[in-house]
Formats: sequence, C-alpha cells, structure tokens
Amino acid sequence: MSGGGTGIGRAVAERFAAEGDEVFVLGRRAEPLERLAAAHPEGAVHPVAVDLTDTDQVIEAGKRLGDRTVDVLVNNAGGIVREEEPGLAGAFDTFRRTLERNLLSAMMLTEALWPAVRRPGGRVVNIGSIAGQRGGGDAYAAAKAGIMAFGYDLAARGGGDGITVNTVSPGYVQDTEFFNAEGRSARHDRLVAQTLVGRAGTPADIASAVHFLASDEASWITGQVLGVNGGALLGR
Ligand SMILES: NC(=O)c1ccc[n+]([C@@H]2O[C@H](COP(=O)([O-])OP(=O)(O)OC[C@H]3O[C@@H](n4cnc5c(N)ncnc54)[C@H](OP(=O)(O)O)[C@@H]3O)[C@@H](O)[C@H]2O)c1
Repeated sequence: MSGGGTGIGRAVAERFAAEGDEVFVLGRRAEPLERLAAAHPEGAVHPVAVDLTDTDQVIEAGKRLGDRTVDVLVNNAGGIVREEEPGLAGAFDTFRRTLERNLLSAMMLTEALWPAVRRPGGRVVNIGSIAGQRGGGDAYAAAKAGIMAFGYDLAARGGGDGITVNTVSPGYVQDTEFFNAEGRSARHDRLVAQTLVGRAGTPADIASAVHFLASDEASWITGQVLGVNGGALLGR
C-alpha cells in the first residue's frame, strides 16, 4: 500500500487491516505510517519509510517486502508537485518530478515486487485520477493517464498468471492532504457541483472500490479503469 499514511491510502490500509489482513504501508514520512501502525494490533500494519521516486530506496524496499507473497499491491502514492523556480528550467523540473511521483513510483514499485505477487490470485490496483481522463494539472494529468496505460500492459502481462490489474480513478476526494492540511480544495463548492450526487468523495469511498477490485468477486475484472467520482465524469 503506497502512500498509506494519509488520505485515501490510509483508508485503504485501514479497510484491509480491519478484515484481518497484514498491511505494509509505504511513504516518505515515517511519522504518519508509525501512527497508523500504533493504532492497530501489533504486527497488523508495518510502516516502511521510502521515497518511491528514489531507485535505490525502491530496490531496498522491494528486498524487504519481496520475501513475502504480495496478495494485493495498491499503487496510491502521488500528488501535485509545486513549481520551485521560474522559467523553463523550473517547468521542466516540475514535469519531471510530477511524472516521478505519480507514474514512475508506481512502475518501479510494481517491478520490484512483481515476482512476489501471488500467482494465481494476485491483485494490483493503481490509483489514477479523473484528471487523467479529462485533463487538469498538466503533467499531473499526463502522469495519471500514463498510469492507466501502464495498467493495461500490466494486466496483459499478469493475465496468464492469474493476476488482475485495474485502475481506480477518483474524482474530488476531501479529507486528504492532496490539496492542503485542511483536506478541502479551494474549489470545493464548484467540484461538488460537478457531481451528480452533490457531495465530495471520501477516502472510504475509494477504499471500498479498491477493496472490491482486490476481492475474489472481482477475479474476472482486469485491465479496467473504474471511475469513482460521484458522477462528475460519465461513462469512463
Ligand atoms: N484527493 C483527491 O481529490 C484525489 C483525486 C484523484 C486522485 N487522487 C490520487 O489519490 C492518491 C492519494 O492521494 P490523497 O488524495 O490521499 O492525498 P495525500 O493524503 O496527499 O496522499 C498521498 C500520499 O502519497 C505519499 N507520497 C507522495 N509522494 C511519495 C513518494 N515520493 N514516495 C512515497 N510516498 C509518497 C504521501 O506520503 P509522504 O508525503 O509521507 O511521502 C501521502 O501519504 C494520489 O495518487 C492522488 O493523486 C486524489
């Protein structure tokens, strides 16, 4: 479970842990991961502090986790990267870091853990974004579109081994650190108005979709993108 210390990732981790699963939560900051582990019985949630954009750290994390069988891999780490310097150099740097955070991180972690994914029956669930389907955020949208395409090829690669791969594509989800510490977008009302059901999503809404795709009931669903967006984007 990457990005498991906050927001959507934490809700997914809590959902699996509540069902008695052993969960490894990955993120750069040790503190939120350790806090989550401390809120669960000993050995239920394992914190792994790792920057998933750093190749050496991903290889090390893969070694630590790879001697176990991975039933479910959730590639959730990601987010918006702020531009740090003006001009072209700053724009290029933002593009690169955005792709690293949202796409390369998932590809590298998946590659590192792929031999350990359960065969048959393993599950990979990637977290995309509505931005990857309709634009929004420039390089962020490109990275999230990329994670969907990555999922298609990975589904083809894993199909013969009985591994399914799907992408959950959330719309606007509040109560995460994605926008700010308060967990609400400055465009909250406008984003809620875009939904058909008149509310923002919650991390638990996304966790439910991930949990379903990871279940035995979803064994014939692979290579798909599931929009979980309150109807903000129809039919895809
Ligand atoms: N909230 C929304 O409206 C929304 C909508 C569509 C898609 N999403 C996607 O949902 C996913 C979860 O986001 P969220 O909304 O739950 O926001 P969040 O609370 O900011 O969660 C993002 C998580 O990713 C981790 N992370 C970021 N960069 C990382 C790196 N280099 N290495 C390891 N971990 C890293 C962060 O932990 P550290 O900072 O400690 O590393 C954090 O726990 C993201 O992929 C996001 O793009 C969110």
